[in-house]
Amino acid sequence: MSAAPTTPAPGLNLGSVRVDTPVVLAPMAGITNAAYRRLCLESMRAHGGDGLFVCEMITSRGLVERDETTLKMLVFDELETVRSVQLYGTDPVYVGKAAEILCAEYGVAHIDLNFGCPVPKVTRKGGGGALPWKRGLLGEILEQAVGAAAPYDVPVTMKTRKGIDDDHLTYLDAGRIAQEAGCAAIALHGRTVSQAYSGEADWDAIGNLVAHVDIPVLGNGDIWEASDALRMVEQTGVAGVVVGRGCLGRPWLFRDLAAAFAGEQVATLPTLGEVAAMMRRHAELLCEHMGEERGCKEFRKHVSWYLKGFAAGGDLRRSLALVESLDGLDRLLAELDPTEPFPAQTLGTPRGRQGSPRARVVLPEGWLDDADGSGSWLPEDAGEHSGG
Ligand SMILES: Cc1cc2nc3c(=O)[nH]c(=O)nc-3n(C[C@H](O)[C@H](O)[C@H](O)COP(=O)(O)O)c2cc1C
Repeated sequence: MSAAPTTPAPGLNLGSVRVDTPVVLAPMAGITNAAYRRLCLESMRAHGGDGLFVCEMITSRGLVERDETTLKMLVFDELETVRSVQLYGTDPVYVGKAAEILCAEYGVAHIDLNFGCPVPKVTRKGGGGALPWKRGLLGEILEQAVGAAAPYDVPVTMKTRKGIDDDHLTYLDAGRIAQEAGCAAIALHGRTVSQAYSGEADWDAIGNLVAHVDIPVLGNGDIWEASDALRMVEQTGVAGVVVGRGCLGRPWLFRDLAAAFAGEQVATLPTLGEVAAMMRRHAELLCEHMGEERGCKEFRKHVSWYLKGFAAGGDLRRSLALVESLDGLDRLLAELDPTEPFPAQTLGTPRGRQGSPRARVVLPEGWLDDADGSGSWLPEDAGEHSGG
């Protein structure tokens, strides 16, 4: 049993990987590409901190079969000294092979495995958040990944949810299985699959997992401000926090997190002018990594997050959400009032997807009848990129 520390631990140690700030950027499909990871990393390093910035989820089979879309996602920025990738997989053989490729060919320093995705087309096949129900299969997948990464001294972690629903909780078993398989840590999003992103994350469950296992636990869910991260560490005893939606349109949250974990006062809130500069930097990094046309298209989805709560008018917002070039972006950003103060009413409030709970989690026929599943290796999809 591990004792819960009462003060934030300095740094985060995951096997051979150590970062100075116990903060992980949550993998988010379509968001945490190389450009966004760099933006968050710049923010954190500017304040003397450093965390772990996880690549968007990629599929094991896609990697093993060298699927074009998958390989395009496996890009790293030159500032990323610790390459961290999340793998999705349901077949231990593919997962093992993919882990080997990541270590041998991509110089990856940390591999996370996705067992939390609530997307119906994933759970329908027994993947993501549905998989930990099959305890034996989960163990086989983890062992293959850990075994493949061990010769490279690369730590493997898993990320999961509380369970399928309140009647089918899996997280405590998953913690034990991860520990037995040699995982360096387990991250828990304090919701069930059936909750998707609705309601509040259950931090008590995170605390229960900390008490249940000896490996480090990373806590995830509803960290909207740096103070929430400190509160989660204090309440649950986690070794580190995983931050997802809170940083959408607010990459400077990583600056605040670096400050908070260093015991310093969180810096002042950015004005709209400073937010516009961050938007420009984000778009520029996307264009560097993807080319101007695709980079600008990718940037569009971030506009409403950046401007949440600001007075910017509807026409301007709509034009920004259709931006096609960096020059065009500059012209539009110049129309914003740079002196407008940050909308304090948005602090501490949810952003990004929330939605409503699922009436029923879509699972393969008879899935809940057997809670082991050893040897019943599930067919794996090469083209699954929805994450979540
Ligand atoms: C747009 C989006 C994409 C996501 N993609 C992934 C993913 O690929 N892998 C994963 O493990 N979780 C994914 N998640 C879940 C987050 O990593 C995180 O667990 C969840 O958002 C809860 O944390 P938060 O309250 O800090 O947002 C995604 C979440 C969002 C909003």
